[in-house]
Amino acid sequence: MLTLGIESSCDDAAVAVIETVAPGIATVRSSTVANQDDIHRAYGGIVPELASRNHVVTIVPVVERALSDARCTLADIRGIAVTSGPGLVGSLLVGLMFAKGLAQATGIAMVGVNHIEGHILAPMLENRIAMPYLALVVSGGHTALFAVEDFGRYRRIGRTRDDAAGEAFDKVAKLMGLGYPGGRAIDELSRHGNRKRVRIPRAHVKGAPMDFSFSGVKTFVATLLASAAGRAERPEDLAASFQEAVVDMLVNPTIAAARELGADTIALTGGVAANSRLRERLAEAAGADGRRLVAPALKYCTDNAAMISLAGSYRLLRGERDSLGIDAEANLSL
Ligand code: KG4
Ligand code: ZN
Repeated sequence: MLTLGIESSCDDAAVAVIETVAPGIATVRSSTVANQDDIHRAYGGIVPELASRNHVVTIVPVVERALSDARCTLADIRGIAVTSGPGLVGSLLVGLMFAKGLAQATGIAMVGVNHIEGHILAPMLENRIAMPYLALVVSGGHTALFAVEDFGRYRRIGRTRDDAAGEAFDKVAKLMGLGYPGGRAIDELSRHGNRKRVRIPRAHVKGAPMDFSFSGVKTFVATLLASAAGRAERPEDLAASFQEAVVDMLVNPTIAAARELGADTIALTGGVAANSRLRERLAEAAGADGRRLVAPALKYCTDNAAMISLAGSYRLLRGERDSLGIDAEANLSL
């Protein structure tokens, strides 16, 4: 079954075609992303109005490209999976309205997909993973741990109490003048730095070992950079020390959750899953604990539509479809 996936919850417009043989077992035929980083960079963050307006311009060409890359036409598509939330409502509406129009015009079944469910299932695009498994979803908007019990059955067992980890990366990168989005710049700079040079306190959420908190570490770096001593540090060392602190604060609750669940597999997913040090440290920690870490290829870590297609396709296989009355929900919960 070929599923067309459409994702426009934030600043990327992504479209993919996947071929699903059974729930969670699929081949990606194409996965296209129209990235808007160049548009938002000048503002140091995403401007929602610009994001949605650009989706309006790019959505049709991106769909055409995904179909042609997959060497198929709309006539071959059996289902449409579209992100209906959470995200920026103006951005979500562009993809959702496009999908509704397509479903109405062609009669193809359509389902709305939760963006987070897409991230949770993304590691299955390239790996066979037995459920239950533990998913660490770590991106610019989310940082949470989910027990993945079955398709459609996810239990959140840990979450950030304040900022998302990616948000902390982006804010610190901005303070350091590394541009936007800054997670990758910090990752690259850190390769040449001494991660023990700057002592950065790690935050623990009292009484909640599976929860996260990143606002303190971000404020710590901001305060440090406001001082002469802080400004005298080499940026490489500061980046590496900050990154190590964030990685520690991600790894410890994740291992605690894996033990609590007795999960053999930990799946790392979301934009920050692209971080090289996080991958390395979590793989080590999981291995030392007798568990396996599965992390998707970088293109499936950041926002993409292959993961949305996968999250929609198991429902389409069951014969489900949503009505054309489905609405975009900025705060859609799982
Ligand atoms: O999943 P994603 O594409 O969008 C959201 O749903 O948020 O994640 C984007 C986030 C940004 O905060 C970006 O800085 C971060 O992922 N990111 C990284 C790296 N690559 C992307 N953070 C740390 N290290 C990286 N290599
Ligand atoms: Zn995302």
